[in-house]
Amino acid sequence: MSSPRKILVTSALPYANGSIHLGHLVEYIQTDIWVRFQKMRGHECWYCCADDTHGTPIMLRAEKEGITPEQLIDRVWQEHKRDFDGFHVEFDNYYSTNTPETRHYADTIYTRLRDAGLIEVRAIEQFYDPEKAMFLPDRFIKGECPKCHAKDQYGDNCEACGATYSPTELIDPYSAVSGAKPIRKTSDHYFFKLSDPRCADFLKDWIVPPQVQAEAGNKLGEWLSGGLSDWDISRDAPYFGFEIPDAPGKYYYVWLDAPIGYMGSFRNLCDRNGLSFDAFWKPDSEAEVYHFIGKDILYFHALFWPAELHHAGFRTPTGVFCHGFLTVNGSKMSKSRGTFITAESYLDHLNPEWLRYYYAAKLNGSMEDIDLNLEDFTARVNSDLVGKYVNIASRCAGFITKRFEGRLGAVDAAAVAEFKAAFEAGEIAQSYETRDYGRALREIMRLADVANLYIADRKPWEMAKQDGREAELHEVCSTALTLFRDLTLYLKPVLPRLAEQVEGFLNIAPLTWTAAWEPLPEGHVINEYKHLMTRVDPKQVEAMVEANKQSLEPTPAPAPVRHAEHQQHAAQSGEAQAKETRPADTGHISIDDFAKVDLRIARIVSASHVEGADKLLRLELDIGEARPRQVFAGIKSAYAPETLVGRMTVMVANLAPRKMKFGMSEGMVLAASGDAPGLFILSPDAGAEPGMRVK
Ligand code: 2FM
Ligand code: ZN
Repeated sequence: MSSPRKILVTSALPYANGSIHLGHLVEYIQTDIWVRFQKMRGHECWYCCADDTHGTPIMLRAEKEGITPEQLIDRVWQEHKRDFDGFHVEFDNYYSTNTPETRHYADTIYTRLRDAGLIEVRAIEQFYDPEKAMFLPDRFIKGECPKCHAKDQYGDNCEACGATYSPTELIDPYSAVSGAKPIRKTSDHYFFKLSDPRCADFLKDWIVPPQVQAEAGNKLGEWLSGGLSDWDISRDAPYFGFEIPDAPGKYYYVWLDAPIGYMGSFRNLCDRNGLSFDAFWKPDSEAEVYHFIGKDILYFHALFWPAELHHAGFRTPTGVFCHGFLTVNGSKMSKSRGTFITAESYLDHLNPEWLRYYYAAKLNGSMEDIDLNLEDFTARVNSDLVGKYVNIASRCAGFITKRFEGRLGAVDAAAVAEFKAAFEAGEIAQSYETRDYGRALREIMRLADVANLYIADRKPWEMAKQDGREAELHEVCSTALTLFRDLTLYLKPVLPRLAEQVEGFLNIAPLTWTAAWEPLPEGHVINEYKHLMTRVDPKQVEAMVEANKQSLEPTPAPAPVRHAEHQQHAAQSGEAQAKETRPADTGHISIDDFAKVDLRIARIVSASHVEGADKLLRLELDIGEARPRQVFAGIKSAYAPETLVGRMTVMVANLAPRKMKFGMSEGMVLAASGDAPGLFILSPDAGAEPGMRVK
């Protein structure tokens, strides 16, 4: 092989306020396959990603949950990491944008752009919520649609008639945060001057293959010839993000620091592994950098991002690999139909490698949408993986174990050579390289067919019953297992866990690309065959869909790959996200729903009567925060206040604060009651400390 390539690969950073779902996984699985392929080929390849943690929706979501944004993003990071691990998406670094490294590169890029004369300050007028004292992103303004007059529509588009408009066109607008009537207010914003001829001149040469796919290049060319507008990269406080160094009270817009998070994550990896960041990011770097993204964020990655990098003195990406959206059963993912499937729920019901295989079979390196047809999924996995591939081992391995003490015989070298000649191994590598995994898998399954034919022709099960055919039986099974080893090797980027199991069963070193077509040596001892993969039972699929059914279809939301609520015109409103999940109609709730309730151990610091209240006591509860929470609890009938002080109990910590006649109530204490009189607050077991989470 020629000298190893140095490659840095990224997937788009998921927002830190939503769950990973099957739409997201199209991208992460696709990227992971590519990275595993490169590593198996012996290249130095690093896969970096992070949570995209900044912005208004995350700030407001944390506030609603009664926690800090930092607490929210820490929790979601754990959930995301768990889901990615569950699907065997193996990052070399999974980080966060809310880190010193990302801040450092955001400041570096901003400062260099400013010094190059590419930042401009301009006053703009926007909707402002006077009650919350904050400017409102489009998604947080609602009102009546100016076209069809549907009520309660978002500030950027109408979900009833599909019209798009600007928030100023809404009739009777109101703030979705506080309900207040927004006012128009002016403030200074920082713009990246994409309209500067230097940007257009640079980009027109950049938006061509191999940097972008030809189809993406066409789209980008249209945008570019329409003229690029300057990009508003600042937001006013309150905002969860990085404050701009020379502009107090102004923060980088989340989409400014998100792609910089790729650098931040890689920098963190470099510092931990002794790698050179510059070797990958300096302008004349020989390393390759690839971004896998969905088509809704092409604008950011193939226009803004390379323009920023180039003018800030960094290298630009070698390639932006853009893919389409996911549909399920031919339609957008839908909560009411149960096809808006979270990663966690999939893993509760089905094997992750089934989905990896199915997605891979559908992907072809283009920007077309892919469909997860659940019937086809079942049929395809059962026929290809179980019926064709696993079947080879399950039909031959038992004879080696039972008849030959696990020892392989001589392999039919002529048969192997014949397969090799008929098989386009180079094409498989080429197909993986170009992300045409569907083509790679078709070729691999063709080999599986040939191997099955070889077995069916020889009929080892008949040989086993006939005297004097031991040697033939030994050879056929040993040959079949060599072919099985090669199939496993080619499938390994897609099915890493299964490949590991096979390596264990065949008792061989981890497979790399160069191992192919070397017959397994005569006398090599294999381990006992254990079933490698079960068939998909349609009932499992039905149960998964059932578990994801929710009673209300919130919106005719598109199903882009990373964020189901993200709209096509994300380029203008990158914060188009974050809606509430609806209650389930089955009476069941998912573990996700349960996890939304933040139950905490609380110490009752003080308890007192409330003047004018018949049922309430005023409690102050310590849950490990800087100051105790005030809660009005309807437990006066059962407890004298002085008996409560010092006791530990359990509270709901993320209930929206409620303004009562007597003051704010900032949570709820849990108490049991039955038909008979009596009310009993809960107590944790000894050892529980204030602030501990109850789950
Ligand atoms: O669309 C999204 O889900 C964004 N969080 C993607 C960011 S990708 C990169 F720029 F960080
Ligand atoms: Zn409308």
